[in-house]
Amino acid sequence: MSVELEATVRHIAVERPQRVRAFESFGIDYCFGGMQSLEDACRQANVAVAEVRDALERPPEAEMGAGEDWTTASLEELSDHIVKRHHTFVRQETARLLELLAKVGAKHKTNHPELDRLEELFRALASELKLHMMKEEQVLFPMIRQLEQASRDEAADIADFAGIMFPMERMISEHEDAGGILDEIRSLTGSFEPPADACPSFRALYQELEEFERDLYRHIHLEDNILFPRAARMAGIR
Ligand SMILES: [Fe+2]
Ligand SMILES: [Fe+2]
Repeated sequence: MSVELEATVRHIAVERPQRVRAFESFGIDYCFGGMQSLEDACRQANVAVAEVRDALERPPEAEMGAGEDWTTASLEELSDHIVKRHHTFVRQETARLLELLAKVGAKHKTNHPELDRLEELFRALASELKLHMMKEEQVLFPMIRQLEQASRDEAADIADFAGIMFPMERMISEHEDAGGILDEIRSLTGSFEPPADACPSFRALYQELEEFERDLYRHIHLEDNILFPRAARMAGIR
């Protein structure tokens, strides 16, 4: 499948989910910068377009397999997948990372005062995400499921769901806030590069923070670029 230079990064990632890995490996923002063309995104990430295009056109790895094409699964399946896979991950990892931050901070704060700010930023991110996911699970995702049921029912009036845009826009803006905190964490940690005197826990902390960032990007991509636009189209809004 050839990739057009003018296509948006978001379109390229949605078209074949495995491409997210290629974008990650080149440090290309497919999530918040998703509306950029491939050419512009490569320029911004300072990587060669030809090299990125080669990676994007490579056939999918077998391990990624099928079953993850969320452009055709039902919205119910997709929202269930987000909760089971990504919300569970955020809950488990925030608890673990907060413990690790306290442990590493206690040992290294004197030589690395930036650990205080790091803990503060991550604590803010964790509490924002906790509330955010609760709103998705208790309000927005059930609305999307009802919308999908109504779309299959000829007697139902889809116009009743026009208001679904408000919670979706709110969630998108909260994603941007979380993305801002992630950016600060990335720059504070020098892109998760542990200092020379870092002990194994310090190294584990940076590695896990980077994994947390990667998962949150994949999570937000599924919501902003697939689930919400599909729900908006279903509601006849876009
Ligand atoms: Fe979510
Ligand atoms: Fe979300």
